[in-house]
Amino acid sequence: MADFTIHSALTAAGIALGAVSDSAGADARLLLMAVLDCSAAHLIAHPEQPLTPDQQARFDALVQQAAAGMPIPYLLGTRAFFRHEFAVTPDVLIPRPETEHLVEAALAWCVRRAPDGAGHTLVDVGTGSGIIALSLAAALPCAAVHATDVSPAALAVVRRNMAQVGVPQVRLHQGDLLDALPDSLTPDLITANLPYIPTADLAELKVTQHEPRLALDGGPDGLDLIRRLIDQVHDRLANDGCLLLEIGSGQGAAVQALCQAAFPAAAARVIRDYAGHERVVELIR
Ligand SMILES: C[S@@+](CC[C@H](N)C(=O)[O-])C[C@H]1O[C@@H](n2cnc3c(N)ncnc32)[C@H](O)[C@@H]1O
Repeated sequence: MADFTIHSALTAAGIALGAVSDSAGADARLLLMAVLDCSAAHLIAHPEQPLTPDQQARFDALVQQAAAGMPIPYLLGTRAFFRHEFAVTPDVLIPRPETEHLVEAALAWCVRRAPDGAGHTLVDVGTGSGIIALSLAAALPCAAVHATDVSPAALAVVRRNMAQVGVPQVRLHQGDLLDALPDSLTPDLITANLPYIPTADLAELKVTQHEPRLALDGGPDGLDLIRRLIDQVHDRLANDGCLLLEIGSGQGAAVQALCQAAFPAAAARVIRDYAGHERVVELIR
């Protein structure tokens, strides 16, 4: 194995990752920052710094896994979302920046009623790594925040993230959608980024190779889980409460219609992301 400097290691890794990534240079830098435990600025300032044999071996191993298709956040074990860094493992979906629209819509609704969330009960359904629930709990320290997931392995990741983000007050519940919650609990706000990819589309998607199928498969039309949740919400949501659902592009009209059918007197609207894609359906009861 040739002796590498920061510069030559990044050049070689960029070439190796170019075949699988549109951001090969940035991916290589992230992996080397993790191995050297340094900042991006350090990589730029010290291109001639030699790697030790151990650093070189660890960097090579990460680059090989990334070149084989393993997503960078799984290799690093961490991903930034909204205002915090979250632990991620292959048991949970990798947080997507688009989901920040759901968090922003939730905060906008809640802050209008109580800036610190006081007196409000929030439930995040299908919480995965906990990004939505924990971001809301950090921003609304007086709200009662609950998070559910059917996957015990995902909830173990949420526990780690509760410590990391500093929100020990969040309550976790394992089970199917809202059935996981105690009967006595009446949410004011329900958020959910549930699986919404139609089963037939999964085979063509690169994400399905490494991310849990349980986090992606939304049934024949992608709306199995969302449809069931809207049914359950009908009996649980507080009278002036709000439901926010992340959706796939092109699902807005169908999900809006499901909401209007369940709540004929309520207002439902589709919120688009910065790219103009349908991203969230908001129902205010
Ligand atoms: C698309 S992932 C979203 C994870 C996280 N909310 C996020 O935005 O990154 C969907 C999550 O729903 C969970 N899930 C799937 N079926 C469920 C069910 N019937 N009840 C509760 N959670 C479920 C999966 O385990 C997964 O963590």
